[in-house]
Amino acid sequence: MLRRMADSCFADTEWNRFLTLYAQETGKAARRPGGGPYVPTSAELTFAARVAWRNAPRCVGRAYWPSLEVRDLRHLHDPVAVFQALQEHLRWAWNGGRIRSMMSVFGPEVQILNPQLLRYAGYADGLGDPQNRKLTARLTELGWQPPAQRSAFDLLPLALRVGAQTRLFSWDAADVHEVEIIHPDVGPLGLKWHALPVVSDMELRFGGLTYPCAPFNGWYLQTEIAARNLADRSRYDALPGLAVQLGLDTSRERTLWRDRALVEMNRAVLHSFDRAGVRMDDHHSLTQQFVAFEERERAAGRQVNGQWDWLIPPLSPATTPVWERHYRERPLTPGLFHRAGTCPQAPADIP
Ligand code: ARG
Repeated sequence: MLRRMADSCFADTEWNRFLTLYAQETGKAARRPGGGPYVPTSAELTFAARVAWRNAPRCVGRAYWPSLEVRDLRHLHDPVAVFQALQEHLRWAWNGGRIRSMMSVFGPEVQILNPQLLRYAGYADGLGDPQNRKLTARLTELGWQPPAQRSAFDLLPLALRVGAQTRLFSWDAADVHEVEIIHPDVGPLGLKWHALPVVSDMELRFGGLTYPCAPFNGWYLQTEIAARNLADRSRYDALPGLAVQLGLDTSRERTLWRDRALVEMNRAVLHSFDRAGVRMDDHHSLTQQFVAFEERERAAGRQVNGQWDWLIPPLSPATTPVWERHYRERPLTPGLFHRAGTCPQAPADIP
């Protein structure tokens, strides 16, 4: 009983602190704080999601936080309806290539097993994206069958759990936009990537509440695809192949063929997204915008929450303005946190 009282006092404090922040920043009168259970309004949810993005210590794209579109889908309980809402999310975010940022917030009983809505299969024999091997195995156990002609870029189905039931859904090809990677001098590289990153393994926390299913998307920064997904040795490992196509001397490390191929891969990804009319940032422009965001935050009396080793880009980090800056990281709420058992850079651990 004592413990329950302590818990609920804590919840009261958290909730009241959130309402105060909401009132301060939006200028809208706070609702009269009462006892729980606390059910935020859609306007409060939208505010919380935007501030959660603003607080995300690893995100270098936060300059755009006020423009996050938030959909309140807490009333959806049927898996088919949830999947349809996610299809709508893809369509609205895509916007003909002029990608818009959006978060869809579902009720606590909805769970997405995939770490992102769109992911490529990783097969045990090495084909595909090795980061998704566990996920691929889990989805196969749940009944997914790889295509008869497997490829390096087979889109995985989405696993939705509502209550005790888990169901698989396949995306319509028309809703999944992919960009073929073409190098401006060499031509097609036999690689592609999906246009939308939609993160689905982070929960939204604010005011003492947790929304475990709140998938959100932004648009890509080219280094994510070119310097990590396609380049990492533990991912698509495509730099040696590109170096050969570029005619680089790969006989010795000292020719810096890896570095040269890395830059060319980044050029190829930017070139390809531009050519396809799909919104994408580059690491020089985006870090400049990030610094401008820092200044706006300082002017608003807030200190930017940041994790330096994530904010610097994996290509030429010391040429960007974030290199010489310092950041402090705190677990701020409203915030986005990895759900227990999931980690962004390791193969997703599916419960
Ligand atoms: N790095 C992840 C990927 O390559 C995406 C993370 C979110 N990125 C973003 N630009 N919103 O798929």
